[in-house]
Amino acid sequence: MAVTPVALPPGVLSVHALPADHHDGPWDHIVTPPGVKERLLNHALLTLLHGPALATMAGLPHGLIILSGPPGTGKTSLARGLAQTAARAVAKRGATTYVEIDPHAFPSELLGESQRNITRLMTDTIPELAARRPHTVVLVDEVESFAVSRSAASFGANPVDVHRATDALLAGIDAVATDLPRVLFLATTNFADAVDEAFVSRADLVLTLPLPDKATIARIIRHSLLELAVLWSGTAALAHDDGLHAKLADACAGMDGRRVRKLVLSALALRQEVTRDPNALTADDLVAAVDYLTPGAEND
Ligand SMILES: Nc1ncnc2c1ncn2[C@@H]1O[C@H](COP(=O)(O)OP(=O)(O)OP(=O)(O)O)[C@@H](O)[C@H]1O
Ligand SMILES: [Mg+2]
Repeated sequence: MAVTPVALPPGVLSVHALPADHHDGPWDHIVTPPGVKERLLNHALLTLLHGPALATMAGLPHGLIILSGPPGTGKTSLARGLAQTAARAVAKRGATTYVEIDPHAFPSELLGESQRNITRLMTDTIPELAARRPHTVVLVDEVESFAVSRSAASFGANPVDVHRATDALLAGIDAVATDLPRVLFLATTNFADAVDEAFVSRADLVLTLPLPDKATIARIIRHSLLELAVLWSGTAALAHDDGLHAKLADACAGMDGRRVRKLVLSALALRQEVTRDPNALTADDLVAAVDYLTPGAEND
């Protein structure tokens, strides 16, 4: 539940108290290679549990995790799921405030405005939110529009402003790491080269989520079919047909996870008999539907 549905501070999309049951889901829905989720969770726990102790060491942690990778590989979902899972893991010590930042709220036409807004976010808003509960997780989605690389060639209209805004963000991250060592930032980007190098260098963990391999695609398909079988039990056999999943995964090679998730939808829309009663879905429908997942394929 949103804590304050109206009058959120500028640049803040939402504020939630975690753990909350309705935030379960994304962590389990995103299929990753073995070990990825554990590594993410361990890094989050280091900040939430031991941030103050670790902050006394040279080369202090910045409490920053970056998830990078192509569009549709589950970065945002995994970041949201991580917030909930980490909040559950530390719940005995108290609740977690989960904040989503709107990176598109900051670029501004006015010279100096972005810098002022980012400074306000980092020096006023986040400390105020962090004071509410023992733990705080801040999601900065699509951070490339926020921490623009100062060495990249094109800045658009206002290069000086971009520099100052990025500088303000870096100074803010450093200040929060020192003063509020239990605040964890999660940043996502599908354009790692556009993210400022000094920002990336501050990350305690940079995790790249690549396009899913065939084994992962097969697991995503299986997961989608299992969900479908809960809704229409007549499709249950499809969810347990490993051979079918492997065949579909071969045909879907190179697609991102979001695209692969559309396979079931595409198959349900292929024949109106199936659209009206999904229990009638067949393996052949699924195989035929793969062609419709690639843009323009229906024109071939
Ligand atoms: N590895 C995966 N396993 C299962 N589902 C996935 C996976 N990757 C993506 N998906 C599906 O795609 C949807 C979109 O994922 P999400 O928005 O988290 O991707 P993203 O990487 O943040 O994309 P973008 O870069 O476009 O913002 C998810 O809700 C999920 O259903
Ligand atoms: Mg995303």
